[in-house]
Amino acid sequence: MIVLNDTFAKSYTDKHSAASGETLGAAYHTLVGKSGAGSDFLGWFDYPSNSGEETKKIKAAADKIRESSDVFIVIGIGGSYLGAKAGLDFLKTPYYNSLKKSAPDIYFLGNSFSGEELETVLSLCGGKRVSVNVISKSGTTSETAVAFRIVETFMLSKYGEDGIKDRVFVTTDKSRGALLTHAKIKGYETFVIPDDIGGRFSVMTAVASLPLEVAGCDTSAILEGARRERERFLTQKTSHPACRYAAYRNLFYSSGKRVELFVSYDPFLSFFGEWLKQLFGESEGKDGKGIFPAGAVFTTDLHSLGQYIQDGVRMIFETVVTERNPKSSLALPQNSEISDGLGYLEGKMLAEINKTAFYGTSLAHMSGGVPVLEISFDKKDEISFGGLCFFFFLACGISAYMLGVNPFDQPGVEEYKQNMFALLGKPGFEAKKKEIEEKIKTL
Ligand code: PA5
Repeated sequence: MIVLNDTFAKSYTDKHSAASGETLGAAYHTLVGKSGAGSDFLGWFDYPSNSGEETKKIKAAADKIRESSDVFIVIGIGGSYLGAKAGLDFLKTPYYNSLKKSAPDIYFLGNSFSGEELETVLSLCGGKRVSVNVISKSGTTSETAVAFRIVETFMLSKYGEDGIKDRVFVTTDKSRGALLTHAKIKGYETFVIPDDIGGRFSVMTAVASLPLEVAGCDTSAILEGARRERERFLTQKTSHPACRYAAYRNLFYSSGKRVELFVSYDPFLSFFGEWLKQLFGESEGKDGKGIFPAGAVFTTDLHSLGQYIQDGVRMIFETVVTERNPKSSLALPQNSEISDGLGYLEGKMLAEINKTAFYGTSLAHMSGGVPVLEISFDKKDEISFGGLCFFFFLACGISAYMLGVNPFDQPGVEEYKQNMFALLGKPGFEAKKKEIEEKIKTL
């Protein structure tokens, strides 16, 4: 179960009240009643209960990939990448490739234009059995398409036209896009990203489920975790913690807090923070509004960002994601012969020291005018991962409706893409290219 703790925000919220805007109740009903802007992209809300057939297909493909591969390359960017990577680190640790047994190594590509990264990963594939999953809802994303062209060329030279068919898996729209057309021509197996689920809300679908099943995660349990949180949301309505969290965010924003720092005290949750940045950044940052999402891992980043958070511009609030029952029972060994000044910590578990670091830091930040919310989950398992993702989907949708923006579009992402297409000479962008070149001359 996902729990919200507002202990370290109270002294702030007692002094401030939320500005007007759509009320929490109205936002809740807008989301649940599917009556708001972008409501045709609310498929994620019911997906955990109706994904049956696709889940079976994913599990069958994952079994095949696990048996036939030493390396599994996952190509995608944004919502077609971050959920799988966050889930893999959360469930199998960032050291998965070194720790796993009888499963393929997993590498993520297509999330930049780095030729060096592509060459490095392909050099690791020599002499190994390789399978590939290319993921793109639009089927036209440049980073993904470029990486796939290079990886597919590598696969063709390794396996030939026929051999490659069993080793390339395509996750995309069910009826349109260049990637789907290509997959059909080549005879690759395809998985569907439903029309009514946007990229950053797609972690429960094949987008993350196929890579996570290949890694040995139980994606049925992820869906179960999401289903439980959904039921609780429908029962508790505006007193569900996702609604209360959204209300706090709204209050912070209207009292001048412009940056939400997503924090964890666990490096294995670092990519979960990346996933949160995308979810909230693309959903809320529009029409000149929105909280800027940032991410940090504590205590690591207290040694780089800590000074600013404590004493810099008072524009930050923190949302800390914590695990209530960490697995490790590692404790500081006792040794009276070592004079490192750590005698007072001897016998203490690292988990306890970490928890104390959270309390000490939160108290300091709160008294420095940085309110801190804690969102905790039980333990790093599939049920919690599904529940946590679904919790943040709900909070994000409610928050955006309270802010008065459409949570489910991303018009601003297009501008850089248009410029890039024009500058690289993509057919159809000739006029734009001229316009940009003129603009550059005046800079
Ligand atoms: O949330 C989104 O819609 C985006 O971040 C996309 O996931 C990202 O741009 C990748 O798009 P696509 O899956 O079409 O390649």
